[in-house]
Amino acid sequence: MTLASIALPPGLALELGSEGMVLVGDEKRFGKPLRVDFTAGKVAHRRQFGGGRGQLIARACGLAGGITPSVVDATAGLGRDAFVLASLGAEVLMIERVPAIAALLEDGLNRARCDQETAEIAARMRLYTGDATQALATLVAQAGFAPQVVHLDPMFPHREKSALVKKEMRLFRELAGDDHDAPRLLEAALETATHRVVVKRPRKAPPIEGPAPQHVIEGKTSRYDLYVHRSLKR
Ligand SMILES: C[S@@+](CC[C@H](N)C(=O)[O-])C[C@H]1O[C@@H](n2cnc3c(N)ncnc32)[C@H](O)[C@@H]1O
Repeated sequence: MTLASIALPPGLALELGSEGMVLVGDEKRFGKPLRVDFTAGKVAHRRQFGGGRGQLIARACGLAGGITPSVVDATAGLGRDAFVLASLGAEVLMIERVPAIAALLEDGLNRARCDQETAEIAARMRLYTGDATQALATLVAQAGFAPQVVHLDPMFPHREKSALVKKEMRLFRELAGDDHDAPRLLEAALETATHRVVVKRPRKAPPIEGPAPQHVIEGKTSRYDLYVHRSLKR
């Protein structure tokens, strides 16, 4: 896919610069350009000092007691959660439906594959572009991937006006929109995961409409709802 063929909302553009691919828009409205970088900044800091398998996401996905499940991240976004899981040893298949977001993520992954500090981690991450609501089982089969855990982090519809959304999130939100079809995504995940489905939610948000989660792991700002088919074993 060429850059020019990727559909974008009016006022946004994907550009290739010396530091990789960036999404740019009017800075006053959208804030700084958006780029995926696994080798520096917050993501790198979290890899080095983030708390390992004690992190909420690791506990939710069952990375404990010597168990390292394979994880499908069916809402890949900018790949931050997937990178945490891969840095803890998990094989991660990422699925993202917005082509511009997938392009930014693929670009970040390519740079991570060339960096000595992150190459081994990035080798555990694979990205497919597609809609997991419609094609989760097909994409997983195509990839020949064992979907022990399916991780979901759909956008949570925000009521506040865009001026109040954190600037760094505005460009991303403009591309991704609100994931109103999250209940259908949860259904697809429950059909595909062999062991558990893990859903990240804002701490006070209701669970995704559908079956009730069997377990909840709460953090300061977010929460994980767990839907367990069977326990993970070594
Ligand atoms: C909140 S973001 C995820 C952020 C991600 N966890 C991270 O660490 O960067 C949600 C992402 O899921 C994607 N998404 C939502 N529903 C999807 C679906 N059915 N199939 C594939 N991607 C989906 C959205 O386009 C958006 O990029």
